[in-house]
Amino acid sequence: MKNKEPLILVVVVAFSLLVYLLVETYAHSVMHKHVDSQNFEYKDLPPVTKTGDIRNGKVLVTGAGACIGCHSIESEGIAANIDVVSAAAIYGVNPPDLSDVGVLYETKFLANLIKNPTHALNVEHKFDTSKGQMHPMVAFYGAGGDIDQEVADMVAYLKSIAISIDDLTPKMAYENACGRCHSMAYESWTEIGQTPKFKNKINELAYEIKTLKYQDSLKAYMGKLPPDLSMYYRSRSESFLSTFVEDPQSHLKGTAMPRVGVTAEVFDKLYEHMADSADTKRAERDAIGKNVMIYIIIFAIFAFLWKKQVWRDLK
Ligand code: HEC
Ligand code: HEC
Repeated sequence: MKNKEPLILVVVVAFSLLVYLLVETYAHSVMHKHVDSQNFEYKDLPPVTKTGDIRNGKVLVTGAGACIGCHSIESEGIAANIDVVSAAAIYGVNPPDLSDVGVLYETKFLANLIKNPTHALNVEHKFDTSKGQMHPMVAFYGAGGDIDQEVADMVAYLKSIAISIDDLTPKMAYENACGRCHSMAYESWTEIGQTPKFKNKINELAYEIKTLKYQDSLKAYMGKLPPDLSMYYRSRSESFLSTFVEDPQSHLKGTAMPRVGVTAEVFDKLYEHMADSADTKRAERDAIGKNVMIYIIIFAIFAFLWKKQVWRDLK
């Protein structure tokens, strides 16, 4: 009888190649769609063409712009009108503090957000004004002058009060841009803030009830509770996270998560905060790596000297 083994081998190899090259490639392209990064430039939004006037911007933000009707600006001593749980009951989510939005969000994005929140946030599929579905952040319709000038003024003011990018910590970036929707249990962060250390059970339970109430409002607003981000640094690649944050629709068509509008530099900080939560031993590992290199270099020098010593008399 003829040897059939080569034939069997050919069949197995052919099928393996078929599965690997066609089926796997296809499944990968469907389940891990490749999305090109836009480098957080928000090219679809029109640029700001006017030069803003900071003084007038302040008048508008704290007056006709109505911003402080919903938002606090703590660095300017403007506190929130209501607590976070009541705010979420009204708006679905707590409107973020405006102290540092001038550094967190891209300039063009901020201007477009003020004029048309639904469009800038890329949630037009959820809020159809013709059907009376209003976004909880009302659009600014102008204070009587040139609306583009007024918007530029407000943006200039918000940029003038924000801290510098160097002083913005990864944690601050996370709390303002993501923290109102995403808890981070490993960092003791809930959607309503940093969980305090409780001395007694009653206060702890009261805090838990507040968190649950807030989450109920958020669930109703978003359709589901946004996931805890403690471990996303490990479960997703950097390229997935950056392109997802840049435009959630690119990966999850129809998702309720808004485009948040952060700059590329701020994304790096967010990513670092996610790493701080998911990979706490990073710094230690890097430090050990350095020590090991130093050890190896010193050892190599001694080994070389020892070799010379041993061979000296044998030449
Ligand atoms: C009627 C209430 C209301 C008013 C008025 C309002 N906002 Fe908002 N704002 C919100 C809510 C609610 C959110 C959160 C929306 C969300 O996360 O889906 C928000 C979100 C924001 C954000 C964060 C957007 C992001 O990219 O995550 C900024 C910045 C902001 N508002 C600035 C302003 C400025 C500046 C003004 C004044 C021109 C203003 N808002 C007026 C309710 C309001
Ligand atoms: C206004 C609320 C809101 C804000 C602000 C928000 N998210 Fe989300 N996020 C959501 C919701 C809702 C989902 C669930 C999406 C879904 O399953 O459709 C989600 C999902 C995610 C996911 C999971 C995606 C996946 O693969 O399943 C990641 C990662 C994420 N968000 C990161 C962020 C980061 C980082 C920020 C801050 C820059 C942020 N989000 C800001 C509401 C929000």
